[in-house]
Amino acid sequence: MIKTITMEKNTERLEREFQEKIDNEVKIEPKDWMPDAYRKNLIRQISQHAHSEVIGMQPEGNWITRAPSLRAKKILLAKIQDEAGHGLYLYSAAETLGVSRDTFLQWLHEGKAKYSSIFNYPTLNWADMGAVGWLVDGAAIVNQVSLQKTSYGPYSRAMVRICKEESFHQRQGYEIMTKMARGTKEQKQMAQDALNRMWWPALMMFGPHDSDSAHSSQSLKWKIKRESNDSLRQRFIDKTIPQAELIGLTVPDPDLELQPNGSYKTGEINWDEFWNVVKGNGPCNKQRLAHHKKAHEEGRWVREACLAFAEN
Ligand code: 3HC
Repeated sequence: MIKTITMEKNTERLEREFQEKIDNEVKIEPKDWMPDAYRKNLIRQISQHAHSEVIGMQPEGNWITRAPSLRAKKILLAKIQDEAGHGLYLYSAAETLGVSRDTFLQWLHEGKAKYSSIFNYPTLNWADMGAVGWLVDGAAIVNQVSLQKTSYGPYSRAMVRICKEESFHQRQGYEIMTKMARGTKEQKQMAQDALNRMWWPALMMFGPHDSDSAHSSQSLKWKIKRESNDSLRQRFIDKTIPQAELIGLTVPDPDLELQPNGSYKTGEINWDEFWNVVKGNGPCNKQRLAHHKKAHEEGRWVREACLAFAEN
């Protein structure tokens, strides 16, 4: 009996010391004591972030062979290569929590792990490459700049590295949209159509409303998240709408209203669509996962060769 009480007291002390470190902005490192729930939350979020980076290569990879110029092809290739690197940094950060990359990929292939809903939408033409860079990477920047201050050391350092490359991704997308919006009538229509299809799914990237977020309150207490889903979403909206107006495009939201404080009031997100896509019923969910599984299988010989070489 006494042993149990002593153990409980010890855990309480460890939890108190842990929260004091968090409150004092001391980074938590892999070898530090941490609550199991903190570890579990990070394994979930970081590995799903990594999956998003890698699966996110598919919609853009679709357009490498059809880029309109050598310059455009080189830029797209560089961007996609960056995303692969982002995935590797994040898998490495997640592995420090005691789970192997193979296990993360198994969870993904078994449908036990998520990736960002945005990548379950198709990319139909070159304007979509602009919209993905401008809106998807634009949203990712808002989210990831905030995550640079996350409490877990390896995740925070991965974010600092990733954010340095993310701005180029957003700028190249906005450059494509600008060129098309100022091009022929057909090109401007393609850019507007891409904005119409990508705007709301980009807002969904920030997750459900704070009131419906299963993890936010604890993630904010542990400073895994530094700002809420809704506040990051609003920051993206307020930054992006002027960019659309500057190139003569219209955000597809009839309820949009610029408020006196300079922030935009928007219409309601279609949360049925969001949860439907998150649950696996989006336009491209099956295709994305099948492609990932096929590529992983086709790459088996490379992994085996590297392991054989490393063991000699
Ligand atoms: N797509 C898929 N699932 C989503 C989602 C989305 N857009 N938004 C939320 N969810 C899921 C959550 O994962 C959680 O499910 P789980 O418990 O099975 O993990 C559930 O919905 C409830 O949502 P919460 O708000 O409670 O979840 P979080 O507190 O984890 O917040 C998040 C969601 C804001 C996405 C947060 O996880 C986060 O900031 N993740 C890191 C950033 C990230 O993953 N971004 C994805 C895009 S990466 C990218 O765009 C790369 C760029 O280079 C192209």
